[in-house]
Amino acid sequence: MRAILYRMERMAKSNPTVSGDDVRAVWDTNAAFWDERMGEGNAFHLQLVEPSVLQLLELQRGERVLEIACGNGQFARKLASLGARVTATDFSPNMVERARAHTEPFNDIIDFRVVDATNENELRALGEHEFDVVVCNMAIMDMSEIAPLFHAVPRLLTPRGRFVFATMHPCFNSNNPAFTAESRDVEGTIVETFALKLTRYLSAETSHGLAIIGQPAPQYYFHRPLHELLGEAFRAGLVLDGLLEPRIPDETKSARWSSWFNFPEFPPVLAARCVVRG
Ligand SMILES: C[S@@+](CC[C@H](N)C(=O)[O-])C[C@H]1O[C@@H](n2cnc3c(N)ncnc32)[C@H](O)[C@@H]1O
Repeated sequence: MRAILYRMERMAKSNPTVSGDDVRAVWDTNAAFWDERMGEGNAFHLQLVEPSVLQLLELQRGERVLEIACGNGQFARKLASLGARVTATDFSPNMVERARAHTEPFNDIIDFRVVDATNENELRALGEHEFDVVVCNMAIMDMSEIAPLFHAVPRLLTPRGRFVFATMHPCFNSNNPAFTAESRDVEGTIVETFALKLTRYLSAETSHGLAIIGQPAPQYYFHRPLHELLGEAFRAGLVLDGLLEPRIPDETKSARWSSWFNFPEFPPVLAARCVVRG
């Protein structure tokens, strides 16, 4: 058997002392690169994140939406094009500047602000029971703390509001899998098998990694197993109301063998909807 194991270039290491300022500095550094590569949505976003989040949102025209960690604002623009009135926030001033620069056609309906989602007071200052929807795409695993966001959500939402988030799947992605490829000659036919090798899940750990290959600075990832991630929502009085593990479309393949697009049996994204209990 000829087996070759490849390790993704992401070094997991315990780093309990990372501050919010450290995390923000990386995103400020990466803002221009992120904006150029994300544009109005890269393949990962358009095929996995956007469809599942829109399905869970069940957005109605005219609804008020608060986006947390909006990046370059591409999803805020999408929401505005669907008729939502959007307040979009991110803690990186450089990212918010890039977001604002895109939005002339949307200036009346998107209000971009610099807000740190690890600061409950900053979040709650956005308004009491003002929003029909709070949404956060692919950022919870980038946050050094999540309790402030989950605890602010019930105060931000209208009584029948919903909180939708998409994050790196804790079981298969934020726990730093090694992508492996195996090639065997089976009676004259070359059979290739792609698999994930996991070495950890239960320990909440901080690692450095790349969201997009080539980005100027590796970012911090904060892996949390499901019971910690959802436990924080439950402690805040939220209940889980919808869950999606979007599947990579079978027809989508990547020339880079270790791309998620060649591992369709594993969902790299988990999308969830929470509502306020009772
Ligand atoms: C992977 S990007 C996702 C951006 C956008 N949601 C998207 O899907 O294109 C993560 C974003 O989270 C933001 N972020 C990380 N920690 C944050 C925090 N504590 N408060 C607000 N934004 C934060 C970063 O600045 C960055 O824009």
